[in-house]
Amino acid sequence: MRHLIDFGDLSREEWDQLYARADQIMNAPEDYLDVCHGKVCATLFYEPSTRTNFSFQTAMLRLGGSVFGFSDPKSSSVSKGESLKDTIKMVSGYADVIVMRTPWEGAAKAASLYSDVPVINAGDGGHMHPTQTTADLTTITRLRGSVDGLSVGLCGDLKNGRTVHSLIKALAKFQDIRFYLIAPRDLAIPDYLRQFMREHNMPFVEVSGLESVIPQLDVLYMTRIQQERFVDPLEYERNKGIYILNRSKLAHARENLLIMHPLPRVDEIAVDVDDDPRAVYFQQARFGMFARMALLSDLANQPRLNPAPVEIGSGPRCHNPRCITQTEHYLPALVKDNGGVPCCAFCDTPPVMG
Ligand code: NCD
Repeated sequence: MRHLIDFGDLSREEWDQLYARADQIMNAPEDYLDVCHGKVCATLFYEPSTRTNFSFQTAMLRLGGSVFGFSDPKSSSVSKGESLKDTIKMVSGYADVIVMRTPWEGAAKAASLYSDVPVINAGDGGHMHPTQTTADLTTITRLRGSVDGLSVGLCGDLKNGRTVHSLIKALAKFQDIRFYLIAPRDLAIPDYLRQFMREHNMPFVEVSGLESVIPQLDVLYMTRIQQERFVDPLEYERNKGIYILNRSKLAHARENLLIMHPLPRVDEIAVDVDDDPRAVYFQQARFGMFARMALLSDLANQPRLNPAPVEIGSGPRCHNPRCITQTEHYLPALVKDNGGVPCCAFCDTPPVMG
């Protein structure tokens, strides 16, 4: 693996190796103190973050490396109109690995085309967030022994929630997972992921009620309604507060249920759940740091490579208004196949037909 843009970039074998390393790091962190000695990680955060940014920074520091970057793009030349390509060209000259989060879908993929060093997608709009998935899988594996064979409930904003999109991509690599997709109709998973699940024979049911499915679940993955992604504020008003997990709703849940959440939570998990031993979301955030240490120990130590020249595009070709190709017009028109449907290789949006 050169870049981590989409969890699909990782084979099952590569994930198993990454987890094995995260596990070793958790067991003996003192063996890893110098693994990134002399290496520098850039953190480019064009969107707010607490856990992802801090866990990457602390991961690099714990490996003996160092970190620079911004958490407010107004403080960088982006605010003077610099293109993503130029920012990445510059930063990849200074850093050994780049971690980036943006509101534009497909931006990390775009950056990877121009970077001399590995690029890690720390969230690209409502599209993907593969390193949160490394935290999620590490949590499940460490606490349950294995990911195979579980019943997984994904609840909340499945339309805009990038963490669930990446988790679905990842769980295609495991055996015998049953999915309960719990969301109101307005916030159901995007079509390309429904197609992806069918193509990979991943059994799923889509429901709008949470309580009735809780007893079936081994993992309940709650998510926040992603207010910042709503174009229509009334749609947000209609859907906010729709799912609230509290202690009484857990009365018929399994004894060994894992209650997970990428955080931050707003109101979707009541505070009275925090002391339930099944609530593992704060542990999950800490596991994320170890998963990111495992990732950085590999990617920050890769050699610099000049990327191959990229064809120059001449305008937006994807109709998704949040796609990076809308603003960075030099990007090439790349297409990929999603279950037989040709889609934008940056943001996964299928073309408008007819
Ligand atoms: C998530 C994100 O940024 O997508 N947070 C995180 O990285 N842990 C989830 C969210 O913001 O709701």
